[in-house]
Amino acid sequence: MTILLIGGSPSTTSRTGRLLQHIGVLLEHEGFDIETLHVRDLPADALLHADYKHPEIVRATARVARADAIVFATPVYKAAYSGILKAFIDVLPQFGLKGKVVLPIASGGSLAHTLILDYALRPVLASLYPQQILDSIYAVEEQIVWSEASGLTLDPAIEQRVGDGIAGLQRALRGSKNIEREAVAA
Ligand SMILES: Cc1cc2nc3c(=O)[nH]c(=O)nc-3n(C[C@H](O)[C@H](O)[C@H](O)COP(=O)(O)O)c2cc1C
Repeated sequence: MTILLIGGSPSTTSRTGRLLQHIGVLLEHEGFDIETLHVRDLPADALLHADYKHPEIVRATARVARADAIVFATPVYKAAYSGILKAFIDVLPQFGLKGKVVLPIASGGSLAHTLILDYALRPVLASLYPQQILDSIYAVEEQIVWSEASGLTLDPAIEQRVGDGIAGLQRALRGSKNIEREAVAA
């Protein structure tokens, strides 16, 4: 089963990106095929013009279509998700998340914006009809520490949320696999 990690930060040294990559490594250890798509690598002009026919946008949306589950990662920008993540979501088809399990994650400068995942990102993702949106993971900057020497250090509370998120993905994907098998057998 394939899980697509979508990074929504414009920053190449993104904290959210490091958290996302960490989740990807853990999921790979659990036997999932992991793919990564950073929205910042897509052509900005095509995103700004919502040019969903641009070949690179077509390739990116096809990767979304092929994935069984998607982890959406965003920094908090102005009390919401990043603009580039929304620009990419805007070029997905109306039912672009149908049948997929979704795990939203975000990092922000302040705990005051913990709820952005629930009041801002979750309704947008729900409008694309995913099978399930799992409990989100929100971390503040101090909880995601990275250095060349030590690599990534996560606050224990975030490590716990990450473990819960991975367990949720496993449960949801195994469940949908069983439903597929039952449908074939029937
Ligand atoms: C343009 C901009 C707007 C931001 N707005 C908020 C905000 O409204 N609330 C908040 O908690 N943090 C805000 N931040 C802080 C980022 O969310 C935080 O530094 C985050 O960890 C950055 O993630 P990244 O390294 O993955 O890009 C903002 C940062 C920038 C650059």
